[in-house]
Amino acid sequence: MSRKKIIAGNWKMNVKPSETAALVKGVAEATAAAAGRVDVVCCTPAIDVPAAVAAAAGTGVEIGAENCHWEDHGAFTGEISTGMLLDAGAKYVIVGHSERRQYFGETDETVNRRARAAIAAGLTAIVCIGETLEERDAGRLQEVIRRQVNVGLKDVSAADCARLVIAYEPVWAIGTGRTATPDQAQEAHALIRSTLAALVGAETAETVRIQYGGSMKPGNAADLLAKKDIDGGLIGGASLKAADFAGIVAAAAV
Ligand code: 13P
Repeated sequence: MSRKKIIAGNWKMNVKPSETAALVKGVAEATAAAAGRVDVVCCTPAIDVPAAVAAAAGTGVEIGAENCHWEDHGAFTGEISTGMLLDAGAKYVIVGHSERRQYFGETDETVNRRARAAIAAGLTAIVCIGETLEERDAGRLQEVIRRQVNVGLKDVSAADCARLVIAYEPVWAIGTGRTATPDQAQEAHALIRSTLAALVGAETAETVRIQYGGSMKPGNAADLLAKKDIDGGLIGGASLKAADFAGIVAAAAV
């Protein structure tokens, strides 16, 4: 089956509100040729979302956030709810990024709560998984991926999968300039899809897009995206320059 490719930028803790419109407009212009053929998303710090949504209006670019809480509202100082993101015009939200797992105590259980809340609210959740170098070197790749999918996506139904994207981001490839080889990435993506199939059925699992993330650049995107189970990219560093990001989108548009 053919899955529409999805290239999403993860701006992380970069780009101020006053800088947001220029980057979103730059991305929209530079990716205009691929409009309609590739889903193009900029995931921004929550404080940038309103400016990003305004700048993306009338373009093919959609806006997402980088995290959300699982409760609708209440005494959760510093958190952002799915309703707030929707109200601001976001369509996507990243959940469970390895930086949140590593620095902010995120677990497979909290990833699951956030993902289910995002999907239930009507956002598309980009759920991130991926092994550390220690886990890979210890031969634990399969065990870690299976656990992250099984716990992180527990009680996500087949119908929910219409608003689910999975990002495979090997921690050792993030921001390091060291990319998984296309074969390494494909192996992990196939494992993710087969693990998902056991949860929601093979037919539905075939419809879910699985992005690769970790030092994806214009120069290596085509080889990664050519693999059967690699349906897009979640882009950190290269999403901060419109031309680089557009180069990756162009590689996905072929
Ligand atoms: P880099 O593209 O900078 O390696 O970051 C990947 C990432 O973490 C995207 O979420």
